[in-house]
Amino acid sequence: MGFVSGRKVKILGTGIYVPEKVMYNSEFESFLDTSDTWIRERTGIEKRHFAAKGQKCSDLAYLAALDVLKKTGLPVEKLDMIIIASNTPDSLIPCMASKVQGRLNAVNAGAYDLQAGCTGSLTAMQNAIMGIACGLWDNVLVIGSEAFEKIMDWSDRGTCILFGDAAGACILSVADESEKQFFISAKLTADGLKHDYITNENNGDNEHNYLRMKGHDVFKYVSLNLPKFINEFCSESKVDPTDVDFWVLHQANTRIIDGVFKRVGISTDRTLLNLGKYGNTSAASMLVALDESYREGRIKRGEKVAFIAFGAGMTLGGLLYNA
Ligand code: UT7
Repeated sequence: MGFVSGRKVKILGTGIYVPEKVMYNSEFESFLDTSDTWIRERTGIEKRHFAAKGQKCSDLAYLAALDVLKKTGLPVEKLDMIIIASNTPDSLIPCMASKVQGRLNAVNAGAYDLQAGCTGSLTAMQNAIMGIACGLWDNVLVIGSEAFEKIMDWSDRGTCILFGDAAGACILSVADESEKQFFISAKLTADGLKHDYITNENNGDNEHNYLRMKGHDVFKYVSLNLPKFINEFCSESKVDPTDVDFWVLHQANTRIIDGVFKRVGISTDRTLLNLGKYGNTSAASMLVALDESYREGRIKRGEKVAFIAFGAGMTLGGLLYNA
């Protein structure tokens, strides 16, 4: 864990793109031994969206980028870097961020992709914070984007009911010394011995091309370790969890979030849950939740906001922000 030092870094604005195609829980009943009731009760999910045929992960990312650029009014040539976090890129080479950079005509921006499971967008935000705080960059576009279709095993009821497609974005920018909005601290950890909990070998062999998840092991691991991580991160950041006004969370499963909040002693009134609408959108989910939280007026000036994510690896991450 560390406190952010150097130049102050703020959130300039946020963006979102959710594809139109919707799939309701009941639609799984025709080809899987599952039910709307099971999915709702075990996950909190009612429906999810999927990219249209031919719509790629970078297309979703591009549309979320257009949204944040429109909302902030930042001229595109002011972007110094574009970072996309994803577990479902169009291809291994080239990175999707370069495609988005080209389509945006962001002539002054560098571009790279980053993969860290569902913790990816938080990791990308931390990269952006580091680059801005030390003076390398002034404005960084961070995107989390997922399009799951090609790695989804539609015969595996333990995974395909959980995930959905979306893209979330934010622009992080340098703040004046006098500004009240700035990132305070950041922490990333990994428990690499659990790397086999969520995998996609993607080695060209069809049998291994699908996302595989030891769902219950992930559930138990996160339920046990995330409360510890949150308590440690808060204590190292010199804030009590109950003094954090709002929590922006990776949306994995409503039961996980309820259990973790109960263990830490925080009320779920202090967060936004959107699993019902979108399912688990992995690296996109935290940024989608951030955009919705701002739009719904859930994040107020002067409040302390914590970002928390976890995912394949097993990776865990936290950020603390003065909003
Ligand atoms: O985004 C970060 C990474 N991912 C996660 O955070 C996911 C974490 N895990 C989960 O959300 C949950 O583990 C799942 C939703 C994936 C599964 O829920 P669970 O309550 O942990 O179920 P389980 O895996 O312990 O399975 C209980 C039973 C099993 O049947 P038996 O063996 O008791 O007969 C499963 O086969 O439920 C069965 N089951 C299902 N039944 C109906 C598993 N999936 C389904 C399903 N519909 N879709």
